[in-house]
Amino acid sequence: MNNKVESLYLHFPFCKHLCNYCDFFKKVPVNSDLEINDFHTYMDNAFALHNKLMAENDLSWGKLKTLYIGGGTPSLWGEAGSHYLKNLLDSHRIKLDSECEFTLEVNPASWTKESIESWESIGVNRFSLGIQSLQAESIKHLDRIHNINDVLDTLEYFKSKKVNYSMDFMLGLPFSEENKRDVVAELADALKYNPSHFSVYILTVKDNYPHYKNLPTEEWIETEYLDVAKFLKLNGFNHYEVSNFAKVGLESKHNLRYWKSASVAALGPSATGFFSDKKLRYKWKTKEAQYDLEELSDEAFLLEKIYMSLRSSEGLDINLIKNKLAYLTLVSTWEIKGYLQSRNAEKIFLNTQGYLLLDSLMNDLFALDLA
Ligand SMILES: C[S@@+](CC[C@H](N)C(=O)[O-])C[C@H]1O[C@@H](n2cnc3c(N)ncnc32)[C@H](O)[C@@H]1O
Ligand code: SF4
Repeated sequence: MNNKVESLYLHFPFCKHLCNYCDFFKKVPVNSDLEINDFHTYMDNAFALHNKLMAENDLSWGKLKTLYIGGGTPSLWGEAGSHYLKNLLDSHRIKLDSECEFTLEVNPASWTKESIESWESIGVNRFSLGIQSLQAESIKHLDRIHNINDVLDTLEYFKSKKVNYSMDFMLGLPFSEENKRDVVAELADALKYNPSHFSVYILTVKDNYPHYKNLPTEEWIETEYLDVAKFLKLNGFNHYEVSNFAKVGLESKHNLRYWKSASVAALGPSATGFFSDKKLRYKWKTKEAQYDLEELSDEAFLLEKIYMSLRSSEGLDINLIKNKLAYLTLVSTWEIKGYLQSRNAEKIFLNTQGYLLLDSLMNDLFALDLA
């Protein structure tokens, strides 16, 4: 049976400036034209290699149901990027489904009206804006290259377009506790711009982070998270994944595929793709268009399915673990402690308190000795 690949992630690795908290693969181009050309060569080679990998595994491209361009700062790829990508997809006969969710990440002060329109002309119908905070001081502390006016201009533009778009926010920011950052007030302001979706991440940094000593306490971050979850729920946003909130029907279809452990192809430096039926994961190298391939064992795949499904409100299908006493015992401990609920005795899912403790719950899960 030939299986179809219907989701694709592309990683655009360039930014105008490197924010000091960011751990994603990215660089500031020294000579933009030259490095973009090199990137296009990388993608051409990667696609050729990827087609070979698909053929070897009896996979072929179906009409894409989701396409996501992340980074880095893909909005900097501009009109040249949209033309390049259109040609690339055409040359590999990759078509978009008529309902394809096609997302582009956009940074304030790193886009133009012309480039956004050009991306829309090739099918982009969803945007993810890197807002992080609506407070001028926090934006400065985060070492962003733009200022609050750039952020507000970006929000005005996307509001006026009446498009489907998401905003990224971050919690646990440096100086937020001493300055009493009011993230709920920021989100109340954000709602005036009619986003359909929010991703709200807790800042994670290494201990050489310049503001390490100015990070808030765990108690502060917990309160921020619970307040945000409560506020967004009250305002009609479904808390459908640990860090994600959406109006009904406007959840990220692309990201839902990760949480369902479904196949998502990926190309670009550092991008990671997964072919679910084959339990194959591949990660692209950053310097050359080559990948490292890993085949998951049945047990590793099951563990991953448990971990990913518990992240979202879809929850875990209890049948997956019905013969696994160690998992069942752990899950019932979580239930007794009040971190999860069950639905029709078939699905279990974490509540907000469980989401908050996700890292420690997952440490317990991965520490189970099933040998
Ligand atoms: C891959 S980044 C790219 C987005 C875009 N370049 C930007 O700067 O807004 C996607 C999101 O990850 C989140 N993020 C980035 N670094 C993070 C960190 N160290 N801890 C937690 N979230 C982070 C931010 O909310 C960001 O919008
Ligand atoms: S713009 Fe985004 S991807 Fe680039 S360095 Fe900053 S946080 Fe990272």
